[in-house]
Amino acid sequence: MNIPVHIGIIMDGNGRWAKKRFMPRQVGHRQGGENLRKLAYEVEKLGVKYLTVYAFSTENWKRPEEEVSFLIGLLREKIQEYIDDKDKNNMRINCIGDLTCLDKKTQADIEHLKQITKNKTGLQVNIAFNYGGRGELIRAVKKMYNDLLKTNLDVNNITEGILEKYLDTSGIPDPELIIRTSGEFRTSNFLLWQSAYSEYYITDKLWPDFNKDDLMEAIKKFNERERRFGGRK
Ligand code: FPP
Repeated sequence: MNIPVHIGIIMDGNGRWAKKRFMPRQVGHRQGGENLRKLAYEVEKLGVKYLTVYAFSTENWKRPEEEVSFLIGLLREKIQEYIDDKDKNNMRINCIGDLTCLDKKTQADIEHLKQITKNKTGLQVNIAFNYGGRGELIRAVKKMYNDLLKTNLDVNNITEGILEKYLDTSGIPDPELIIRTSGEFRTSNFLLWQSAYSEYYITDKLWPDFNKDDLMEAIKKFNERERRFGGRK
């Protein structure tokens, strides 16, 4: 079986999972966070190299303040948990997105976690937080523009490869497979540039219920796809 090098996951359905149980949405998010921890181990066991998960989008600020604060708090908790567990696994943990929205301590903890796990050789987990594909492109273009001014690079020489260097995912191969839970058929601004040729797998399962068997099913379906990258067989 062909195992993707990079998998992306849109972890949707935490709210519905909680609602079905007559519980507050927060319980669903917490369960979703727990599921991420479990599933990352399964993904790593398969030999996948990169896992990028959508934890908070640039559009999620539209949610009630209470829910936004909860999700930021959950990120802080998870970062602390990953710092405490650093010797228990072989994962590199990184956050992508515009992290300047977070307080200085959280930003420093994220950087610390990245540094203490950077020499690990297992799965790299990218937690996309305050992430949006459009925002990422704008941030990339701004950084590139500043560098262009410094280097006098001719604008006509800009290539996809050059722009890619300024993305949050610089140096990481594009995801071959993107999984979206809870049945919605949209990208929701996730990895817009990087997903140009990704295969999408959409399941009705809600994120907290998405398990190892579902992951295997997604990879099986991915293997059945004929990937032509715009060419012909
Ligand atoms: C979408 O479900 C989910 C989110 C907006 C949050 C995703 C967060 C986690 C899975 C927890 C892991 C978090 C961190 C910080 C590592 P939804 O609330 O839109 O569900 P609904 O569509 O059923 O209402």
